[in-house]
Amino acid sequence: MHILITGASGLLGLNLALETAHRHTVFGSVNQNSLKTSAFQVKQTDLLVPGAVERLLEASQPDWVIHCAALANLDACEADPDLAQKLNTELPRTLAKHVVRGGARLVHISTDSVFDGRGGDYTEDDSPNPIGVYSRTKLDGERAVAEADPSAIIARVNLFGWSLNGNRSLSEFFFNNLSQGRQVMGFTDVFFCPILANDLAGIFIKMLERNLSGLYHVVGAECLSKYEFGMRLAQCFNLDDNLIKPTSVTRSGLKAYRSPNLCLRTDKLAGALGEALPGTSIGLEKLYQLHQLGYPDMLHSMKAEQPESS
Ligand SMILES: NC(=O)c1ccc[n+]([C@@H]2O[C@H](COP(=O)([O-])OP(=O)(O)OC[C@H]3O[C@@H](n4cnc5c(N)ncnc54)[C@H](OP(=O)(O)O)[C@@H]3O)[C@@H](O)[C@H]2O)c1
Repeated sequence: MHILITGASGLLGLNLALETAHRHTVFGSVNQNSLKTSAFQVKQTDLLVPGAVERLLEASQPDWVIHCAALANLDACEADPDLAQKLNTELPRTLAKHVVRGGARLVHISTDSVFDGRGGDYTEDDSPNPIGVYSRTKLDGERAVAEADPSAIIARVNLFGWSLNGNRSLSEFFFNNLSQGRQVMGFTDVFFCPILANDLAGIFIKMLERNLSGLYHVVGAECLSKYEFGMRLAQCFNLDDNLIKPTSVTRSGLKAYRSPNLCLRTDKLAGALGEALPGTSIGLEKLYQLHQLGYPDMLHSMKAEQPESS
């Protein structure tokens, strides 16, 4: 298959591109970050430029599109709501329209934080209540995609993994600090269901192969606090877990609102695939194995020099 992955320099997109490139012809679109790789074809394009989506689809002729490009930083969304709306709502709408016209299948990536996190244990039938610019624009993006392409898969995720810059994910936050002997806070009152970015690749491919469509929660099978996640990571990597100080998020000083309980149920997808989603320990063990194989360094070596601006 020809797979187009947008946001291929991001935490999710890069790992998806590398994992799927073993078996498929992959095109990865990037914007400000250049990539050096022979694993997949890199297309550098600002997708907000009029006509860019059409040109990218024409150049890559995809059977499947996995749309990961977004403004995914909560504080950046609060600082520039207009850009958040363009990237998280309007771009998915435009992409979905053109993908369906070309006869390709779309996986649109959304987020667990469309919920306010006051309840937890959310199913796909529960009503979202987004709080903050990021969550609101992502929910609007889901709705725009569903309207433009009812056959699209809309996948609400939460993930961890190794990234291009080495500092994009919560797992890198804990790993980087603990391996430098630095003390960190671990929130005991923020719960989530993270899944390893690499594992999402195989799951999305299975969802496409089984011709699924509509809304799915594609997260890890286990619900745990961010503190517990840090502790488990420390144990897995044999790092000093005493450096993680249990703290309430209310004392963190973070600007954007963090939902306290974003645990999502995965029964719908597990039923459709006939298998459970992986739990945190499996993901952390794989994260460790990737580290032992030099995967983080390999990712960093893919970062191409930016041309000097004149
Ligand atoms: N990370 C998480 O824990 C998490 C949790 C829940 C949901 N999600 C969702 O998962 C998806 C991927 O997130 P991520 O963490 O991988 O994001 P990320 O690391 O911030 O990457 C964002 C990607 O979007 C690209 N991009 C931004 N502006 C663009 C533009 N104008 N034109 C083309 N590409 C553009 C970036 O390209 P350059 O870097 O090259 O500029 C980058 O490749 C998003 O939909 C996000 O909402 C992520």
